[in-house]
Amino acid sequence: MTDSYAVIGNPIAHSKSPQIQAAFARQTSQDIVYTTIFCEIGAFVQTVQTFRASGGRGLNVTLPFKHDAFDLATRHSDSARQAGAVNTLIFSADGITGDNTDGAGLMRDITENLHFDPRDKRVLLLGAGGASFGVVGPLLACAPRSLTIANRTVSKAAELRARFAAHDNVEGCGYAALNGRAFDLVINATSAGLSGAMPALPDALFARGALAYDMVYGKTTPFMAFAQARGATVADGLGMLVEQAAESFYLWRGVRPQTAPVMALLRSAAP
Ligand code: ATR
Repeated sequence: MTDSYAVIGNPIAHSKSPQIQAAFARQTSQDIVYTTIFCEIGAFVQTVQTFRASGGRGLNVTLPFKHDAFDLATRHSDSARQAGAVNTLIFSADGITGDNTDGAGLMRDITENLHFDPRDKRVLLLGAGGASFGVVGPLLACAPRSLTIANRTVSKAAELRARFAAHDNVEGCGYAALNGRAFDLVINATSAGLSGAMPALPDALFARGALAYDMVYGKTTPFMAFAQARGATVADGLGMLVEQAAESFYLWRGVRPQTAPVMALLRSAAP
């Protein structure tokens, strides 16, 4: 029988996950179907249970349900615990495992695809919302020299920093505190680019050879344009999208798909 998976969210119509997972399945000869589920706010648990009762084997979870998914899971991976959020659910006879592949996907894109090693580098993470929570642990696992978390609302940066109190090379601050400092890797995890905005950043932010990474994909954000104009290498979040999907696929199927052909497919299909 064909195993069934889906991505659940609100909105969900424009998700690229079905296309990505279908490509992985073809490539690895896995017999699966992968669909989208639009879920009303407040109906998450019931919608998931209905999908599971109908034979569903696992779910990807996207906005705004990643915290509901965390609460629903009966077991959590380390990365899910670190993020406080779940983007992958795995159903088994004895419960529901919650995992979070966002951070692993980002780091795989940065290290494997973009060939940037964060070890001993000065890393700046912009934003302290949900997208940032998932990536601090995996970033620190790469042993950067320092990790600075900057956010418009400084208290949220401090809160995220406090979750990693055991690390003495992490700081939380506002954007004004970045004046006069340079970084080797700058990751934009704010949602500012979606509305054509960007955080207020100083001109000399990028060290020589810096990589500027925006988690947004499908458009050139003001942050990407800003970074490019100041000589940084610029990457969008399409690689992270495909890599986090590959991590989920691996968790469900035990097979690691190749991501490069799927990234090429998505880039060629882009408007
Ligand atoms: P999510 O949890 O889904 O990521 P969020 O909690 O609203 O969403 O976080 C969005 C992030 O983008 C936050 O870091 C937010 O900054 P604030 O915490 O100060 O709100 C940031 N962000 C959104 N629009 C921004 C803008 N125009 N300039 C700077 N930061 C912005």
